[in-house]
Amino acid sequence: MPKQSVRIAPSILSADFAALGAEIEAVDAAGADWIHVDVMDNHFVPNLTIGPMVVKALRKHSKKRFDVHLMVSPVDPLVTAFAEAGADGLSFHPEAGPHVHRSIQHIKSLGKRAGLVLNPATPVSVLDNVMDLLDLVLVMSVNPGFGGQAFIESQLPKISAIRKLIEASGRAIDLEVDGGVNPQTARQCIEAGADALVAGTAVFSGGPSKYAANIKALRS
Ligand code: DX5
Ligand code: ZN
Repeated sequence: MPKQSVRIAPSILSADFAALGAEIEAVDAAGADWIHVDVMDNHFVPNLTIGPMVVKALRKHSKKRFDVHLMVSPVDPLVTAFAEAGADGLSFHPEAGPHVHRSIQHIKSLGKRAGLVLNPATPVSVLDNVMDLLDLVLVMSVNPGFGGQAFIESQLPKISAIRKLIEASGRAIDLEVDGGVNPQTARQCIEAGADALVAGTAVFSGGPSKYAANIKALRS
């Protein structure tokens, strides 16, 4: 399956939380392809962010794909709630529960795109027996929990290895990278084979008047 054009997914973790609806409208108008929603539970990761009620309230502010990144454990009890709230894609970490295949089946049974997220120390082999079901693979280029961290370069060969697996699968699986993405690291990710980039700090810095230029800088 040939690589798709690069999609930019601003992470609203770096938005103004007092004005999330307006922030989503602003990045949508500025050219965002997807809206990345970081869900943290203060258990799987050391931070606490957004629940399904907030996603439901935000849903009417954009028609773009809500790319929901679940950093929660357990995963399964929250999948239906986020699907009903308006998530289009749900991604989770294999370390968050014992039944990865079942969680993917659960997401797909609700008609949503299923993604698996690889932490920096998680090997590519976790994908071995689920590539036939996945719609997205997300490579973490920071340890999950916070925005504004430095890009971990050792993830670049992992991105290349996963690109080869996607090509071999013949399926249109998105290959997304999350963490420390800026214009320079974006280029490295794209060269390694990524076709979707999450960016919080790099998109939201400077305020709404800068969003279009910030997003453009990540594509080129
Ligand atoms: C980290 C989150 C990321 C984060 C990215 O746990 O998954 O989406 O918000 O933020 P930046 O782009 O600032 O590294
Ligand atoms: Zn994320």
